[in-house]
Amino acid sequence: MKIAFLQMDCHFGKVDENLTTAGALLPGISADLVVLPELFHCGYYFSSALEAAEFAESVPDGRTTQFLIEWAAKKQCHIVAGVAERYKDSLFNSAVLVGPSGFISVYRKIHLFNEEKTWFSPGEIPFFVVDIGSARLGMMICFDWFFPESVRSLALLGADIICHPANLVLPFCQKAMITRCLENRVFAVTANRIGMDERPHGRLTFTGCSQIISPFGEILAAAGKDEESICSIDVNVEQARSKKLTRHNDLFADRRPQYYFGGDRGRD
Ligand code: ACM
Repeated sequence: MKIAFLQMDCHFGKVDENLTTAGALLPGISADLVVLPELFHCGYYFSSALEAAEFAESVPDGRTTQFLIEWAAKKQCHIVAGVAERYKDSLFNSAVLVGPSGFISVYRKIHLFNEEKTWFSPGEIPFFVVDIGSARLGMMICFDWFFPESVRSLALLGADIICHPANLVLPFCQKAMITRCLENRVFAVTANRIGMDERPHGRLTFTGCSQIISPFGEILAAAGKDEESICSIDVNVEQARSKKLTRHNDLFADRRPQYYFGGDRGRD
């Protein structure tokens, strides 16, 4: 199976331009699965929920999901990409999964970063995995990485590949994802953006360095920090299916959840 990231600059508020950029890069990719950045159609650094609402779209009827559906049909591939979503009275920082036959599912970011908490509602659908035939896919968005429970939940649900649209501003994720993949024996495709959102209320610079990590913690592909880039590689999904580490260790069978805190046991 061939998996890929598309790393691009996204200009704040310029949806036409951003879709054009993605549409110019997509023909150069030959892959079964392509991951695009978080909020790739509209940019990231909103000034308010009111402004986020201007760019939020319904899923799957909105323009950006329809654009992705067309490309997935044209390229006969699956695409995961970040979309600002309007659902009923709420706005979500979401990722859609589409395939050759159309829309498949939407994930709503569970762990919101910083000012995102003033623009979006946190996702209220538990992590889930989608079997697309060639692989089982899990989705998470950017800052979700900071919570090891995100990849762990997806891996426990059977994910082979973590699709990870991102707009990273902190410098830690790329290194941390090596451990996330190693401890869960999964692939991860982190598709980050480059460039800057320069707004009247401040400026954010995004760190690029999109990457694909193997279940053994190897960096299979990595982009530079400020170049538009597409990269696809062949992977053997089977490598994510055995959690055996040594003759006597299995990463999942050896877990001792009765001794762990968190989840239902909370912080009481
Ligand atoms: C982030 O979650 N976009 C930093």
